[in-house]
Amino acid sequence: MPLLGRHILSSEQFERGDLDQLFALADRLRPAARGLASCRVLEGAVLASLFFEPSTRTRLSFESAFAKLGGSVISTSSGDATSVSKGESLADTSRVVSGYSDVLVVRHPAEPALREFAGATRVPVINGGNGAGEHPTQALLDLYTLERECARLGTPLDGRRIALVGDLRHGRTVHSLVRLLSLYRDLTLVCVSPAALRMPADLLALCAARGHRVEETDRPDTGLRNADVVYATRLQRERLGGESPEYGEEFRITGALVDACCHEGTVLMHPLPRDTRPGAIDLDPDLDADPRLAVFRQTDGGVAVRMALFASVLGVAEEAVAALRPAGWYRPEQIGVQDAPFHRVRDLDGAGPEAAVR
Ligand code: NCD
Repeated sequence: MPLLGRHILSSEQFERGDLDQLFALADRLRPAARGLASCRVLEGAVLASLFFEPSTRTRLSFESAFAKLGGSVISTSSGDATSVSKGESLADTSRVVSGYSDVLVVRHPAEPALREFAGATRVPVINGGNGAGEHPTQALLDLYTLERECARLGTPLDGRRIALVGDLRHGRTVHSLVRLLSLYRDLTLVCVSPAALRMPADLLALCAARGHRVEETDRPDTGLRNADVVYATRLQRERLGGESPEYGEEFRITGALVDACCHEGTVLMHPLPRDTRPGAIDLDPDLDADPRLAVFRQTDGGVAVRMALFASVLGVAEEAVAALRPAGWYRPEQIGVQDAPFHRVRDLDGAGPEAAVR
């Protein structure tokens, strides 16, 4: 397995075949991700989760994924709580924590930090977000979701029109996602942002070089027109460093905008968190009951994808599938009160959880 023992630092590392293999494994592990099966394949293994920046989804879904494979988690959730605040280098921290654990997940505000961590250890280091750089595992789960949504709609992902909207300059999730999307065929990528927050030129060039059409606009009403996928992002205020770019009301992605520009099968995505405070310019909660909104299918799918990644990096993919056992505890059929009818815990490519567990 090509991922065995490797650091996961950038989505640049993945080839199309790796994605297919990883997503197939995620499908097999979904019963455990969804609480319908248990798995003890990583019993005795320890994940160190080191977050030097705020996180809800990434940290908790990584920790949940590891626990659902039977492993244990040790974690710190702020730089102030570690000896880095006493002047310890990231390299020393990495080497020390590697002696306590079998895999590290690290988030850090400085772009070079992940390479420093990885350079000091042979224990696999997984990037949970490095400044405005990358967030490769978010891109993996985004693409997994997108593939499943396309399968549900009966359309291939190749050939789709995908609008990436918001702060494309600082958004690390879109940076990683664009690299992975470039591995597909014949896409139209519409980058919708204010001029000051454009997608980095090297990423646009990569997509063009791989044969995709790339368009740029600062007008959401134009950029969203006929989009098959809208991937909205949050203005990354914490990365603006004193700049205050124009970010007008037109960047609020509302039901009215989506209805005016998109179609019935448009898939609406966002890495979350979205800003839902009154007056915020982000993905609007007025879309919450719209079945096109896939954001919670994204977050749910993140657990299965991260389980598949741990199993692959630690070399227990086949063993993990073989170790699935039916779980007997209560699990509601639908998790969110507004989840779409097809967003069911037991919805597993037509097969029941028993079939997957057997
Ligand atoms: C993102 C992040 O931290 O980069 N969130 C996430 O991990 N799902 C997006 C963001 O903070 O805007």
